Amino acid sequence: MQLPLQLNSFEKMEHTLKVAVVGSGTMGNGIAQAFAMQGHSVALADISKDGLDRALSTVKKSLERFVAKEKMTAKEAEAIGDRIHPICNDLGAAVADVDIAIEAVFEREDVKKEVFSVLGEQAPSEALLATNTSSISVTSIASAASGPERVIGMHFMNPVPLMKLVELVRGERTSDATVERAREIAEGIGKTVGVAEDYAGFVSNRILMPMLNEAAFALHEGVATREDIDTIMKLGMNHPMGPLTLSDFIGLDVIVDILDYLLKQTGDPKFRACPMLRRMVQAGKLGRKSGEGFYDYSE
Ligand code: CAA
Repeated sequence: MQLPLQLNSFEKMEHTLKVAVVGSGTMGNGIAQAFAMQGHSVALADISKDGLDRALSTVKKSLERFVAKEKMTAKEAEAIGDRIHPICNDLGAAVADVDIAIEAVFEREDVKKEVFSVLGEQAPSEALLATNTSSISVTSIASAASGPERVIGMHFMNPVPLMKLVELVRGERTSDATVERAREIAEGIGKTVGVAEDYAGFVSNRILMPMLNEAAFALHEGVATREDIDTIMKLGMNHPMGPLTLSDFIGLDVIVDILDYLLKQTGDPKFRACPMLRRMVQAGKLGRKSGEGFYDYSE
């Protein structure tokens, strides 16, 4: 597989950015890694020391894979790791002198708004403020920050260091200059952008979530086995993963949360979560991260 990396672009880089990533979970540490891999300095902020330790170890493992594949040297990997600075429980310090702050805390509107109220106060007034939300209204999140015209959705895809896309989401008050600056920054780390307006699910999850949900319904109704559903969609549509494997990869709880949010926002029954999906979440079968989802990952 061709990786979207241009490691030899280190020398070509004219301006290194000061970046803060807020939230060190799967998306947060992936975003931090993607910026650090292009030479930028990243403050990775979280309220949990354990969360930060886990994040740094995830980044280390991912970089080791690049080294093992001879995509970079061990020395380069070490330098990339050193550019990520963990900051525990001090959001103000993490964003005090940044060019861009990217929020990647968990998908709760009230929590995101709390973060944006601090970002609006503590980040420099010219800093770009981005949310990695996958479905929550950017307009609503931006309303909590002073200067909502500099707030934008920058929706990265998992695994961030490998995936080419950043979906930019323009909130009601997002300025054109902010969209262009976000495009420049995303392209500067080797990504390609697609721009969406701030409507439920944007483009990516408006289309992806009903597909994943439909795959669960197909299994629930006995249309085919899980393996056949995945084989048909993977090979027939040339997708890298079948929809049930992808659901396990994303997390079934994440999918149900997004579907519930989209249903609430739109009232459209096409977003009604498959009852089997919901029951699996209730049983703690969340996909890869819990060791069991549509498939077994206990090995
Ligand atoms: N870090 C570094 N390298 C990694 C890695 C990581 N985290 N994960 C995989 N790799 C490397 C592997 O070492 C391998 O390298 P080589 O090709 O040099 O051998 C390469 O990536 C491919 O990995 P695999 O052979 O294990 O598997 P693959 O070819 O299937 O690729 C994948 C893995 C990139 C994840 C691919 O399966 C894929 O693109 N899957 C779909 C992912 C997707 O749809 N993501 C979006 C989810 S939705 C979302 O994020 C947003 C939302 O709002 C829900």
